Amino acid sequence: MKVLLTGAAGLIGMALRPLLAARGHEVLPIDITDFGRDDPELRLVWLDDRPALEALIAGAGIEAIVHCGAISGPMLAKGEPLKLVSANIDATALLLELARRNAMRRFVFCSSISVYGSVGDGLITETTPLRPTSIYGATKVACEQLIQGFAAEYGLDGVSLRIARVYGPYRRANCYLGSLIRDAERGEETTIPCDPAFAYHYVYVDDVAAAIAAALESNDLPHREYNISAGAALTMPEIVEAARIAIPQLRAQLVPGRDDVPDIQQAFDITRAAADIGWRPDFDIARGITAYRDAIRSGRVAP
Ligand SMILES: NC(=O)c1ccc[n+]([C@@H]2O[C@H](COP(=O)([O-])OP(=O)(O)OC[C@H]3O[C@@H](n4cnc5c(N)ncnc54)[C@H](O)[C@@H]3O)[C@@H](O)[C@H]2O)c1
Repeated sequence: MKVLLTGAAGLIGMALRPLLAARGHEVLPIDITDFGRDDPELRLVWLDDRPALEALIAGAGIEAIVHCGAISGPMLAKGEPLKLVSANIDATALLLELARRNAMRRFVFCSSISVYGSVGDGLITETTPLRPTSIYGATKVACEQLIQGFAAEYGLDGVSLRIARVYGPYRRANCYLGSLIRDAERGEETTIPCDPAFAYHYVYVDDVAAAIAAALESNDLPHREYNISAGAALTMPEIVEAARIAIPQLRAQLVPGRDDVPDIQQAFDITRAAADIGWRPDFDIARGITAYRDAIRSGRVAP
């Protein structure tokens, strides 16, 4: 398929580009910057630039949009709710409209587990009520609802993947897993403020890319929302212990503190994605950290 990929210079976009190409898709990657990398394939386009997007799509035979471009976490653009609304909701609405007008076959949207908010105990399924605790989470709910509306009113085949915390080579935002690896490589200890009982849901970026590819390629999607998480939650002490399997010299000091995304979410049901699009996570924390460390050693990472 010929695919327009937004956010193509970001964490998920950088993992998706080679995967989609290897699966035979032709990818048109766009972003607002290449972050100083020499990236001649990347087209620089803002997602609020309707004329530029229309010109890019016109006559290009684009059959699908994979939409990763966004302000990408509840800890970003704090105090700037209208910026979040514009970058996340308005941009998604414009891309949906372009997908509709160009009769595209599929629209894959990167949503987030932030749509659920602080759920407390219990298994989170795709039918759990959406009660976001951030503007970011609210923008993801709004985008999902737009996708539902475009599907109902115009038959546009959109799907939202509710993605957990992603870690991997091209992550630029704060990530304790990245800090653990980088500090261990330098022989330094990592200090992590946390509640030792807090449940983290990390998912390795290659698993996320595989889920997006599966959602793009599936012929029939019985649902429009899928949880994409590594399944079992881990506490920070458990994460550090698992990370030591990959990096035995790793040293971490856990100090009292609160995570910057403190939603209490104990467990995600990921059986819907397995049943409908054949996706299951391949990377446990030890395997993901090994892959991330190898990427750091080879320099294939965000600065
Ligand atoms: N990283 C995570 O933990 C995580 C978890 C759940 C969902 N998501 C979602 O997945 C998607 C991709 O996230 P990521 O981790 O790759 O984030 P990222 O920040 O690494 O990449 C996002 C990209 O979008 C681009 N972008 C931002 N605003 C733009 C605009 N106005 N016009 C054009 N491009 C713009 C940025 O330049 C960046 O390269 C986002 O929608 C994010 O909300 C991410």
